[in-house]
Amino acid sequence: MAINWFPGHMHKARKEIKQVMPQMDLIIEVLDARIPFSSENPMVPALRGDTPVIKVLNKRDLADPEVTALWQQWLEKKKGIRAVTLTHNQRNEALGILRLAQEMVPDSIRDTRALRIMILGIPNVGKSTLINTLAGRPVAKTGNEPAVTRAQQAIKLPDNILLYDTPGFLWPKLTPEECGYRLAVTGAIRAAVIEFEDVALFAADYLLQAYPDRVCERYGLDEIPADGLALMDAIAAKRRFFARGGIPDLHKVSEVLLNELRAGTLGAVSLETPELVEAEQAREALR
Ligand code: G4P
Repeated sequence: MAINWFPGHMHKARKEIKQVMPQMDLIIEVLDARIPFSSENPMVPALRGDTPVIKVLNKRDLADPEVTALWQQWLEKKKGIRAVTLTHNQRNEALGILRLAQEMVPDSIRDTRALRIMILGIPNVGKSTLINTLAGRPVAKTGNEPAVTRAQQAIKLPDNILLYDTPGFLWPKLTPEECGYRLAVTGAIRAAVIEFEDVALFAADYLLQAYPDRVCERYGLDEIPADGLALMDAIAAKRRFFARGGIPDLHKVSEVLLNELRAGTLGAVSLETPELVEAEQAREALR
């Protein structure tokens, strides 16, 4: 399966960010707590150089808390990167990120001028929501359109902090292949980039392996299906989703499965663990 992407968008966003990066004192990179590795932008380390970074594992409410704790530990202990978790409408916690940022920047900078913080993150990860929470008013546009980009803007915050919004940074991890699928499962990349039913099949396989009991309970299945396709067939049978000729309507099943997964109807689900990602990276390195 080939994953097509749109380099035009990527180059423009990268260029803009590269231009302003040297003026920044700190980067807040917003990640999706369900996929902290796949939603990390592989361009960021090269672009930020020595600029300090705080990784925010956002949408914590949708992710498996035990796995999120593993990720936070992995980032902090193994990678030496400051990592915090967050969910929307938690203004005090969000303001805590700014306090942490102030601690991470030398006094010599804070004493002489405003602290410049840039927010980065792939589309739809919750950047605007965080900016609005920090500002205490709607200054950035939120929405569920992954490709929406914004004009760059600096927002004045109390304590002499300037917050820089960035255009949707369209450079998510599409290799290993699993990263691309996970981004599609969360809705971060457009359904058209990867075949919709392939995305659902990937999700079905993963859910069976990681959360078999939850899936069976949700869809009223007495036995754990052998694989993702068998799960999709079983959902079609249970919900009576049949296409012409009585064959399982896999498009309808895909829609239900992905919508329910994204909405949290299947409970808080993480789509990757540090162990899984390390195994995939090791496999990729051997290719
Ligand atoms: P972006 O700037 O990075 O592109 O993302 P944005 O803030 O626009 O957020 C994308 C969607 O994710 C929004 O939902 C937003 O409400 C939702 N979101 C942000 N943070 C969290 C979180 O911690 N938990 C959950 N569950 N959702 C979060 P939307 O329905 O697309 O837009 P809206 O109707 O809420 O504006």
